[in-house]
Amino acid sequence: MPGTKSTGTKTRGPYRLLQENFRRPAGAPGALVGHLMTVQHRGLTRWSAEHLDVRRTHQVLDLGCGSGMAVELLARQAGLGFVAGLDHSPTMVRQAVRRNAGAIGRGQVAIRQGDVGQLPYEDEAFDRISAIETFYFWPDPLRGLAEAYRVLKPGGQLAVTLEMSREASSVPTLTQLLFGRRFSKRSERDGLRILSGAELVAMLDVAGFKDTRFVAEPRRSLGWVCALGSK
Ligand SMILES: C[S@@+](CC[C@H](N)C(=O)[O-])C[C@H]1O[C@@H](n2cnc3c(N)ncnc32)[C@H](O)[C@@H]1O
Repeated sequence: MPGTKSTGTKTRGPYRLLQENFRRPAGAPGALVGHLMTVQHRGLTRWSAEHLDVRRTHQVLDLGCGSGMAVELLARQAGLGFVAGLDHSPTMVRQAVRRNAGAIGRGQVAIRQGDVGQLPYEDEAFDRISAIETFYFWPDPLRGLAEAYRVLKPGGQLAVTLEMSREASSVPTLTQLLFGRRFSKRSERDGLRILSGAELVAMLDVAGFKDTRFVAEPRRSLGWVCALGSK
């Protein structure tokens, strides 16, 4: 499968600490990374949500929910529905619970600790599923996509969104030139899956999704991409 193979020489130091805390935020550094992601991923999250077309009564799932910022946004869109957030990091689950305490109290949001490879939800439970800035890290991406497919209702839709991809502009922005390409290369050496839109779509196809497509913003960050598919 494209992008599933890993890795060359591992890099170390502060960069490695950052990368480990993107993969599974833990302890004080993880909590700090969670807060940073809340700021860094806000624009990307809004963009992803525009493509996901969430309606007021929808049941929505956010995979790898991190600090719960997307859950908060999705809960506003699905005001008469329900939003579940799932993350394997206890540190992120605590942050997401704190951020969404009011909606959890009203029964509109629930946050759980769990792995995308074994989702703790019934078959066909959700109208929409989002996965923002998390797909790079899934140990078995096809297993995660199969689980997303299982818990999606017929006619439901999935959006897998990333801010670092092979869709980055062929005429690089200043950020991409000064910082991005190096970061992307190091991330890839550390085993992150850096994919093109077409590669992402091919994986959704293998997992059984239909009407698959992708949209990209090559000049945003390190190449925003959002792959969409329905069941
Ligand atoms: C870079 S953070 C992005 C968090 C959030 N979606 C955002 O955009 O701010 C990646 C998140 O995915 C979670 N994650 C990674 N692999 C996972 C897995 N196999 N199962 C569940 N969560 C996972 C991490 O714990 C982390 O919170």
